[in-house]
Amino acid sequence: EKGGWSSFMAKEVSEQPDAIANTLRGRITDGHVVVPELTEFGDDVLAGIRRIVIIACGTAAYAGQTAKYAIEKWAGVPVDVELSHEFRYRDPVITDDTLVVSISQSGETMDTLMAVKYAREAGAKTISICNTQGATIPRESDAVIYTHAGPEVAVASTKAFVSQIAALYLFALHLARVRGSLTEAELAVQTAELQAIPDKVATTLLEADSIRQLAQWMTDTRAVLFLGRHVGFPIAMEGALKLKELAYIHAEGFAAGELKHGPIALIEPGQPVFVIVPSPRGSAHLHPKVVSNIQEIRARGARIIAIAEIGDAAVLPFADTVIHIPLAAPLFEPFLAVVPLQIFAMELSIAKGLDVDQPRNLAKSVTVE
Ligand code: BG6
Repeated sequence: EKGGWSSFMAKEVSEQPDAIANTLRGRITDGHVVVPELTEFGDDVLAGIRRIVIIACGTAAYAGQTAKYAIEKWAGVPVDVELSHEFRYRDPVITDDTLVVSISQSGETMDTLMAVKYAREAGAKTISICNTQGATIPRESDAVIYTHAGPEVAVASTKAFVSQIAALYLFALHLARVRGSLTEAELAVQTAELQAIPDKVATTLLEADSIRQLAQWMTDTRAVLFLGRHVGFPIAMEGALKLKELAYIHAEGFAAGELKHGPIALIEPGQPVFVIVPSPRGSAHLHPKVVSNIQEIRARGARIIAIAEIGDAAVLPFADTVIHIPLAAPLFEPFLAVVPLQIFAMELSIAKGLDVDQPRNLAKSVTVE
């Protein structure tokens, strides 16, 4: 079943280009995003949405946090992202022009299911992003966008995560078209960026050998920090979650801008810090800020592992290791930046002799509250 791979996770990491391509298939016609499942709502309903609440748990919640940036920028609708179990128990304000989007690979996570039921009863419209045909959460939702990533067996989510972001980007572009918040030309540019992602993810996978070597000499590491900014921030948190889940190492993801407000106190000589560096071209305003964050923590002895765009020369003098990702527009960098973090956590788990597919204390799908 593993098709020659040493673990399901290794197989699923490698399947990510196909998983994203499968999620896009049938939803882009002549450069236009039309998600057939969303047409059930009627364009007037989608045009009248005033607020979007995304609910999910774990890695799926980080997919939601990542997509918030694109949905707000393209569709111009405010987005809140909430953990399902927090949402449901705090009397959230739900109106009939609220759209609740749940994200769940399994479609069976009890916390998310109960949150969807709550939202529906409160009058919200509900869409689920799900990888499992006919699962309970899609059956309880008004509409479903299936991710078509194929079965995901490893407990730690990889191909489902990138497919969830792809599905959410399709949703955002469909919404932007219906609402007229992007011009035809802008829609075409973003759609082309999305269609280019599977090949770029395939290129990023070529970094696997060097990441394995990096992981192999970090087996004694006690703590790892992850810094990111803008869409790199949720990816930093996802990278930290992967390391906790798979290698049982204390890991935290931070917003790079928050460093000076607290986390910099954690930096001591030798502390490994992954930094997701925004593109110097696409994010010209943020790139120098993150490079200066790198200098600040390097001066305090941090060991910097930078994930940076190919050709980004500014990080080279300050990084101990640079992992290169292909060029992409800023909102599309998460698809690429997350891949080295998945591989790092997987390889560190393997190097420590742990069960990468079945980490201790975790289940693939949590069907109790
Ligand atoms: C956790 C899994 O228990 O549930 C995570 O370990 C997953 O990998 C999370 O992201 C949410 O699961 P689902 O199926 O709702 O996406």
